[in-house]
Amino acid sequence: MPVRLFLSSGDLVADRRFDFARDLQLKGDLVAAADLLLQATELAPGFASAWFTLGEIRERLGERDAAISAFRKAQVTDAEDRHGARLRLMRLGAEGLADMPQAYVRALFDQYAPKFESALVADLGYRGPALLFKAVLAARAANRKPAFFRRAIDLGCGTGLAAAAFARNVDHFIGIDLSPRMIEKARATSLYAELEVDDLLQGLRRKPDAGAELILAADAMVYVADLAPVLVEAERVLVAGGVFAFTTETHDGEGVILGEGLRYAHDADHVRASVAAAGLNLSQLEDRSARNEDNTPVPGLVAVAAKP
Ligand SMILES: C[S@@+](CC[C@H](N)C(=O)[O-])C[C@H]1O[C@@H](n2cnc3c(N)ncnc32)[C@H](O)[C@@H]1O
Repeated sequence: MPVRLFLSSGDLVADRRFDFARDLQLKGDLVAAADLLLQATELAPGFASAWFTLGEIRERLGERDAAISAFRKAQVTDAEDRHGARLRLMRLGAEGLADMPQAYVRALFDQYAPKFESALVADLGYRGPALLFKAVLAARAANRKPAFFRRAIDLGCGTGLAAAAFARNVDHFIGIDLSPRMIEKARATSLYAELEVDDLLQGLRRKPDAGAELILAADAMVYVADLAPVLVEAERVLVAGGVFAFTTETHDGEGVILGEGLRYAHDADHVRASVAAAGLNLSQLEDRSARNEDNTPVPGLVAVAAKP
């Protein structure tokens, strides 16, 4: 994503070295950039942005161990891990697959919010909400049920694109998102009766049993490593016959991986097994890409699961 977090070191000289290093990095002089970043961290040892950028550069230079040690420093110097050094460590195989740091997701989307729709929809051809809408209509038609829902929960609602797609079919929309700035944008649409700044799993856990007829997660499960707890909560929160529809990215291997784009990809068998283990019936699981990258559709799945 085209946003970059910068956390000042509080030391003007160190910050300036960082700026020079970034210039050099952008011009392709990685060795000189790494040298300047090291100087910046000598001046300000707690400079998380410098450690993180150093990790990236060392990785690009093929210096895996040095990259790992810089990313670890970035983690230690910013306990919340707003840069997402943990994800880089997972990609380097230095840490096992785990959830994303919440502060990283929040910082990423808070920065992204002002240009989210133009960047995702216009530049990447984002079509997650439209895919979900079509899939839910088809699943309801196949079950001879109307596609109208009194209460719906939009997990990782972002700026409200999924609520816009389902606006005529839902009476009362609840949106949950980790990013306050994305929630501000969603609020401006007036499509939601309720909006909550929260982790989607924690938010779902607070909902009463059998209180929703529809749950949506458009391009949100790609930020969730383990689908199982979300599916279990969705099953509890849905009324009998209620529907959970979500997109995710996928891959040819087995299980869950963290892809190059720093989003999780779940293979189809894993999705099937997680849905079944949660006590939901899979009405649809189709290969559908929700976005492009480098003008190529990113492999994805659209899933519609119903509570028996
Ligand atoms: C790519 S955007 C998609 C937004 C919206 N669903 C849409 O279709 O346009 C992903 C959203 O999920 C949110 N998100 C990611 N992980 C989350 C989590 N664990 N809990 C709540 N929201 C999360 C992000 O803040 C972001 O707004």
